[in-house]
Amino acid sequence: MIFADSLSRLGTESAFVVLARAGQLAAQGRDIINLGIGQPDFKTPEHIVEAGIKALRDGHHGYTPANGIPALREAVAADLQRRHGVEVNPDHVVVVPGGKPTMFFAVLMFGQPGAEIMYPNPGFPIYESVIRYSGATPVPIALEEKNGFAFTAEAVLAQITDRTRLIIINSPANPTGGVTPKEEIDKLVKGLLDHPHVALMSDEIYSNMLYGGRQHVSLLQYPEIRDRLIMLDGWSKTYAMTGWRLGYAVWPDAAVEHVTRLCINDHSCVNAATQYAGIAALEGPQDAVHAMVAEFDKRREVIVRELNALPGIRCADAAGAFYAFPNIEGTGLTSREAQDRFLDEAGVATVAGTSFGAWGEGYLRFSYANSTENILEALSRIRELL
Ligand SMILES: Cc1ncc(COP(=O)(O)O)c(C=O)c1O
Repeated sequence: MIFADSLSRLGTESAFVVLARAGQLAAQGRDIINLGIGQPDFKTPEHIVEAGIKALRDGHHGYTPANGIPALREAVAADLQRRHGVEVNPDHVVVVPGGKPTMFFAVLMFGQPGAEIMYPNPGFPIYESVIRYSGATPVPIALEEKNGFAFTAEAVLAQITDRTRLIIINSPANPTGGVTPKEEIDKLVKGLLDHPHVALMSDEIYSNMLYGGRQHVSLLQYPEIRDRLIMLDGWSKTYAMTGWRLGYAVWPDAAVEHVTRLCINDHSCVNAATQYAGIAALEGPQDAVHAMVAEFDKRREVIVRELNALPGIRCADAAGAFYAFPNIEGTGLTSREAQDRFLDEAGVATVAGTSFGAWGEGYLRFSYANSTENILEALSRIRELL
């Protein structure tokens, strides 16, 4: 067989590799605490599960419209009105299997040899992977600890060229937990008005997970760039539905037909029962979401405090999502060494900062989607190792 050259440019998501290694060690009888995984350690709320089951029993077994069933797209628009105070045309909402397909389609839509696409670094590894796959040139937006891992508008705007086609931003962010302040977003939007050829994809998958009284700022709240904004969100994190595969984006009018065609070529539609479960999630009680976020907030305080008490480690306040991203330079270990030794010798799975891009060297991602008891035990094992 002779595979296409493009395959050699496709990266991966190392959290899945760590997960596999942790699984192997556990199968050998090792006691592994997993702080590597990027999914809530909660079950999908019962009423959502029941809605999925009911949809199957009611006979929703066939294809749906490629962009999602109308009632779901209307529920998304109502949810965006409630949470962000914005008017969204349900015809601009395109439902896909998870958060990832939107980023893949957005990059394929703009990426080709000669094009430049900006992306956060350290950031969700799929951005850089897919940009390279498309043949476009990835241009990192360096996220630094001194700025709370938020991007600065100045750094983004300074890198725009005639070849820039798309800018990807993500707040609250994976892997850093960073939240970009409204002032920087205001400045970015203002600056983008001078570059009308550039599209923007705002990955807001953690939009329900902010702490310390912070409010999420959605890029949808800026009407002046709605005609070139792709706003990505979904059910995976908010409703603990990672395995259901359900996400959406609000697309600009000019892109809706293109993305719908990509959906038809790729997956036809999201499975019908999952879409009905998605309606129940948005329209039903939100108590479970609030309880989960409150629990994450408690664990966040514990993990940041305890990480700061470890020798050679300092950890910035994690403002959103469910990740802490401590600086480990003082341990004398590289990110990769720390990841491997913490797993092999202490039985604690974390993910090296470099798995999220070159700017992640010197850092390690700890997910606190695990019980406080396990977090405390994991950090006590790491203390002993250090
Ligand atoms: C920033 C970010 N965007 C998107 C996704 C993808 O979510 P999904 O599992 O719904 O594809 C993730 C998952 O970890 C993420 O961290």
